[in-house]
Amino acid sequence: MAETILTPPLPDYSGPHQPGITDPVWPAKAPEGVDEAKYGALYAGQLERQRHLHVVTADVASRTCGELVDLLRTLTGFARHQMAKVPPKDTQRPYDEPVVTRRVTVAVGFGATLFTTIAGDDRFNLAARRPASLKVMPQIDGDDGFYPRDHATDLVILVSSDDYYVNEYIFGRLYYGSVHPDIRVRSVERGYARPDSREPSGFEDGITNPRDGSGPSSMHDFVYIRAEDGEPGWCTGGTYLAYRKIRRRMKHFFDLSPQAQEAVFGVDKKTGIRLEPHEAHAHAAKINPRRPNHRDLFDMDDLERRFLRRPYFFDDGLDGDGEELRGLHHLSFARNLGAQYEWPVLMWQTNPDFPEKGTGSDALYGPGGAANIGGGYYFMPAAATGTDHLGTGLGL
Ligand code: HEM
Repeated sequence: MAETILTPPLPDYSGPHQPGITDPVWPAKAPEGVDEAKYGALYAGQLERQRHLHVVTADVASRTCGELVDLLRTLTGFARHQMAKVPPKDTQRPYDEPVVTRRVTVAVGFGATLFTTIAGDDRFNLAARRPASLKVMPQIDGDDGFYPRDHATDLVILVSSDDYYVNEYIFGRLYYGSVHPDIRVRSVERGYARPDSREPSGFEDGITNPRDGSGPSSMHDFVYIRAEDGEPGWCTGGTYLAYRKIRRRMKHFFDLSPQAQEAVFGVDKKTGIRLEPHEAHAHAAKINPRRPNHRDLFDMDDLERRFLRRPYFFDDGLDGDGEELRGLHHLSFARNLGAQYEWPVLMWQTNPDFPEKGTGSDALYGPGGAANIGGGYYFMPAAATGTDHLGTGLGL
């Protein structure tokens, strides 16, 4: 009997959250006629990213609250329109496989400078409504020639779809100012998803992501802000984005033996499952030690300090010295940026004395290894419903 072929899951366009964050995701339960055991391990609740991502950053030239509302309304309408578009049939040749959807998502985030400029100016009288842990990304060990403050922007627009040209088109509309003249694009980064979820050196990646499908689930527990979270009211249903562009010099990595490569990550290459025992400075252990029966000073278990990872590859060719310029756009989404993201990064990953004095930083980083060359912190508001615009509730 022929095996069932599953069509990839679709983004959730009508949910309370912006599409392109915790979706498209395979349903938690196997569809009818599909072997539950086989499906469970490989699909259930797994994020199935679109093939291409453009990360567009921009500043806002609006001077008044009225102008800012106009910009947000227009941008919201533009995003909705791009997501609702249906691929035209008249450009398809007779023997082409019909394209039903390009799974477009356009997700918008606000940077700290939209609320307060670097010089401290409360430009739209929004400082009191700034999300509690939103700030300009701090510099950390592992940043290489990258000063996050110089790259802080008012907006980020994450454009994803299954076709590069669709992303490119949407970027062009933003860049040329035809969406709104007050959107001033500062940068664009391009990434692609490897369909088998492996990272650039072939390790299974994302296996320990919180998962279990749509609706209120463990994935949502870690990602979306709730009313009781102590955030300004308008933040409910939103999430924080920590974005890092991470360069990897894999020429050196591939010179290592298979065992030495696995020691860097601390996981089995094929399955992504943590090796026991593992080196104390291995990547997986440094970013989450997973200590059993251990509650920290804030009464938190290590597993509570998890977040959703949505990485995309980049390949920018070679640099001026002929060195490979590639790696990951590492997108992390968390309900509490401080407790779930900054704590693991600052207290564990980059702390040379964790878990013991002299352990050293994450083995993935360091000379000849990974280095952060771009990124920023943003707040992604909840989806806009009805006639609302993204960020409704800011009271502009
Ligand atoms: C080029 C850079 C990176 C690569 C290639 C990479 C790859 C991997 C791999 C192969 C795993 C093990 C499989 C899995 O658990 O999903 C892993 C785990 C993980 N990585 Fe990364 N990673 C990178 C950067 C980062 C960064 C910058 C962060 C966060 C700041 C991060 C956070 C995590 C977390 C939270 C886990 C799971 C740990 C656990 O709970 O067991 N990774 N990564």
